Amino acid sequence: MTRVFVPLDSFAVACGANEIADELKRLANERGLDVAITRNGSRGMAWLEPMLEVETIEGRIAYGPIEPGEVAELLDTGFLEGREHAKRIGRPEEHPFLAKQTRLTFKRCGITDPLSLDDYKAHGGLDGLRRAIELGSEATVKEVTESGLRGRGGAGFPTGIKWNTVLQTEADRKYIVANADEGDSGTFADRMIMEGDPFCLIEGMAIAGLATDATKGFIYLRSEYPVAIEVMKKAIHRAEEAGILGSSVLDSGKAFDLEIRVGAGAYVCGEETSLLDSLEGKRGQVRFKPPLPAHKGLFGKPTVINNVITLASTPEILAKGAAFYKDFGMGRSRGTIPIQIGGNVKHGGLFETAFGLSLGEIVEEICGGTATGRPVRAVQVGGPLGAYFPVSLFDTPFDYEAFAAKDGLIGHAGIVIFDETVDMMGQARFAFEFCAIESCGKCTPCRVGAVRGYETVKKIIDGERVAENIALVEDLCNTMKFGSLCALGGFTPYPVMSAIRHFPEDFHGQPMKEAAE
Ligand SMILES: Cc1cc2nc3c(=O)[nH]c(=O)nc-3n(C[C@H](O)[C@H](O)[C@H](O)COP(=O)(O)O)c2cc1C
Ligand code: SF4
Repeated sequence: MTRVFVPLDSFAVACGANEIADELKRLANERGLDVAITRNGSRGMAWLEPMLEVETIEGRIAYGPIEPGEVAELLDTGFLEGREHAKRIGRPEEHPFLAKQTRLTFKRCGITDPLSLDDYKAHGGLDGLRRAIELGSEATVKEVTESGLRGRGGAGFPTGIKWNTVLQTEADRKYIVANADEGDSGTFADRMIMEGDPFCLIEGMAIAGLATDATKGFIYLRSEYPVAIEVMKKAIHRAEEAGILGSSVLDSGKAFDLEIRVGAGAYVCGEETSLLDSLEGKRGQVRFKPPLPAHKGLFGKPTVINNVITLASTPEILAKGAAFYKDFGMGRSRGTIPIQIGGNVKHGGLFETAFGLSLGEIVEEICGGTATGRPVRAVQVGGPLGAYFPVSLFDTPFDYEAFAAKDGLIGHAGIVIFDETVDMMGQARFAFEFCAIESCGKCTPCRVGAVRGYETVKKIIDGERVAENIALVEDLCNTMKFGSLCALGGFTPYPVMSAIRHFPEDFHGQPMKEAAE
């Protein structure tokens, strides 16, 4: 029997992977070939999807990108034996894009069958949870604290401190919430792990539950991710059957249950307190803090709310130890980060690496520049609220503090690349427009400021009192930055001001006041 891997990941499905799997099955039947198809996750090389792999005596051999109409010809030329073909990639792990990575959180993604617990265990799965059970709550929280792990959802808050607050707060019930809203444009790491290695998130959530004495978890998963929803549901069911979830997690005597809640699609519902409102069945609106969710979160109970990648990073930390994880990275940014590369780029996808690579290394060496072949002009880092970086700042290392020092942010680690044809004035207008559409409306700087900002940038575009209106935008950005209740209004100034500051030639050559002084 020959094992063939056809990804079920949305990257691949969007490019015909389901049709390829059907065609392969049909042709194998017709030709009497003994083929077993495994629907795996993606390795993260998006431009090569659908990437098929076949198990041979030389190891797994990849081919891609494959179109449904090419399957017959692929079989004719000896694909099942790993033979030569124009689209033969060779061993995936030897491809430079993969070989240069440090895969800790994504170590199984694309390799295992996402829904096979045997496969999961054979590749180190459940080692972390077993160790957490042995260590007990306090020592598990200590391990996570010492690893230096910071939240991967955007704010970079130390995970151990959050867990410790929940552990120390007395309550009859506590919750773990996985933030799987993944609203930042150009990001897909949460989706990839949920589709490609769902047990890793389940294990991470169970570890968080055991560490903080929480007995119930929710995954708040965006409705735009139908594949992830389906895979996660099946994985939860299998984890329940295997005793990983339930009244006694791996016979520890401690209970932990998990449920999925599907979000209806509002960017602000990714903000942790809006998310909690939405989970409670209300309209998602940002809550005032304090109280912190760690003290009074879901249904007023202490709640750990973490991003999917944060939670999925903890099994490896527990399995290998805090020191192992902490050894990767730079400064206060420890461990690895899955960088999600999109936009006008030659080699887009997911690249997991230790913190510290420079933006230039990522864009030029790893991504290979733009898809159009034109020079890179701007890179937006950190989603729609992130700053635009010009080439002159490409020496900035991927590190929370280094990005903050350049008036930028890492956010959920999405980077979107633009070539020289980008119109930065249009991008500034878009930032305000996005904020106006997605604002929850609770505070005035954001609700009114975004609309006024949009109108003012439009005036600048029309050449109306340019210098005066740029000064007005700057003033408005200051009000939004310091007066908004949450980061939607508070961070919209980042893309706007970075566009004006770094690309004045696009604003009728008008430097901003601060830069001109
Ligand atoms: C407008 C807005 C949208 C957000 N969207 C997300 C999101 O989609 N996913 C996410 O994990 N965090 C998002 N966050 C950050 C969360 O509020 C919160 O910081 C995060 O869930 C905490 O988890 P972490 O510490 O593991 O990062 C958003 C924040 C804001 C202000
Ligand atoms: S900044 Fe915007 S999204 Fe955040 S609370 Fe205020 S109005 Fe709502």
